[in-house]
Amino acid sequence: MNDIGLIGLAVMGQNLALNIVRNGYSVSVYNRTAEKTKKFIEERVKGEKITPYYDVQNFVKSLSRPRKIILMVKAGNPVDEIIQELLPYLQEGDLLIDAGNSHYNDTDRRLEKLSHKGILYLGMGVSGGEYGALHGPSIMPGGSLKAYQMVEEMLLKISAKTEDGPCCSYIGDGSAGHFVKMVHNGIEYAIMQSIAEIYDIMRKILGMKSNEIGLIFHQWNEGKLSSFLVEITYKIMQHIDEQTQKPLVELILDKAEQKGTGKWTAQAAFDLGIPTPSLNLAVVARALSHFKKEREILSNLFGEKNRIAGDRSLISDLEKSLELSMFSSFSQGLWLIHEASIAHNYKINLLEILRIWKGGCIIRAKMLDFIKDILKENPQNINLLFSEKAMNFIKDKIKSVIRVTELSRRSGIPTFLLNSTLDYIFSLTESHLPANLIQAQRDFFGAHTFERTDEEGIFHVEWQPLE
Ligand SMILES: NC(=O)c1ccc[n+]([C@@H]2O[C@H](COP(=O)([O-])OP(=O)(O)OC[C@H]3O[C@@H](n4cnc5c(N)ncnc54)[C@H](OP(=O)(O)O)[C@@H]3O)[C@@H](O)[C@H]2O)c1
Repeated sequence: MNDIGLIGLAVMGQNLALNIVRNGYSVSVYNRTAEKTKKFIEERVKGEKITPYYDVQNFVKSLSRPRKIILMVKAGNPVDEIIQELLPYLQEGDLLIDAGNSHYNDTDRRLEKLSHKGILYLGMGVSGGEYGALHGPSIMPGGSLKAYQMVEEMLLKISAKTEDGPCCSYIGDGSAGHFVKMVHNGIEYAIMQSIAEIYDIMRKILGMKSNEIGLIFHQWNEGKLSSFLVEITYKIMQHIDEQTQKPLVELILDKAEQKGTGKWTAQAAFDLGIPTPSLNLAVVARALSHFKKEREILSNLFGEKNRIAGDRSLISDLEKSLELSMFSSFSQGLWLIHEASIAHNYKINLLEILRIWKGGCIIRAKMLDFIKDILKENPQNINLLFSEKAMNFIKDKIKSVIRVTELSRRSGIPTFLLNSTLDYIFSLTESHLPANLIQAQRDFFGAHTFERTDEEGIFHVEWQPLE
């Protein structure tokens, strides 16, 4: 009898299976396409206690009870299909763990359905890509505490470790784990877009070559910006294409793909009424990048853009701009998680989220310590801004972002993220927004009513005679 079952042997599943077995557990594996299972066993399993199965029934039978089965398959219908296949062989008290990037609504639906059959279910976010899956990811499990406790020991063992402990913590009820993983990805989209915009400015305004840009990112990674995404940007900039001997990044088509978690984050934010402009615009920027042919035609129609030549003093402004946009992306994501926790009754501890994001995951960053200090000071500081520490940080960076965005505007370089960082902060620190005019317009054409600043109540005015 094996301790754990794992279904889905693509990049994540293979590496997670190896990680689990290397931590002392025996694992049964199954993949829909048998060829992949065979290849995995032949090429990557070197005597570890991993047993392949080629049909679901024998796979389930091979597990000690209560059975614990991790699903690492493509999100969406495949998860439902595989659950359907498993159900006839499962018994009350068995546990299914969906470790893919499932939509949180799907997780709630599956949880509800399986609970009627006495099957326990965890919706578990796993971040860190294939490297993290093998060497220790950040793990965000949600569902019932009882279900979590059945696998807690194993999850703590296989997760990444930092000086603050294992990067795994019970996130909360229902779909809490998948919600937090989704927002993690939304923040990831935003930070990646900020880095890309800064790279664009370095090459277009400062005329820097990829390897020079890489060295700057390397330097930044030694300081306050130390983070996985800054680190890999340095490595990417240094990577030379064997065929052409050119930096590979310069040969990659500028069309960014997406699998959905960024879009879902924006949709969830709209549903909950939480402003996450940077997270939303990172999705917009990827969508826009897709129109390559159209961009080429329009770029000819528009004509050459007048690039302003910048000097290297801009680099310290770019560093501060990345710091502020990273901070504001975390601010927006944490606010969304806080609000979702109330709306969905997840009971999420934001400090724990920050702790488990410190290692293993794609958005791990030194800045999380600073953010943790701000939140510790005042746990009600839902978007981090209600703090003198945060305000001093912002004030120290904002002039740099203004300088960078002014230059990029005048040079015709799009900077969705850097601009949205400024607008987010300027809007939240503005006591008078022009929303009074919006309210007047709404009342004018739709009798939607408005409130007044000088009197309590709800008002409507006949702005013009109807007849
Ligand atoms: N890649 C990453 O860096 C990363 C990071 C974190 C989380 N995730 C999430 O982790 C999950 C796995 O990701 P991945 O990149 O390893 O693989 P993936 O490309 O998302 O999915 C491929 C796996 O799903 C299986 N599958 C697809 N349709 C199926 C169906 N109808 N029934 C049964 N199995 C089916 C495939 O089996 P076949 O071999 O038979 O096609 C294969 O094992 C996804 O939810 C993904 O979003 C991925």
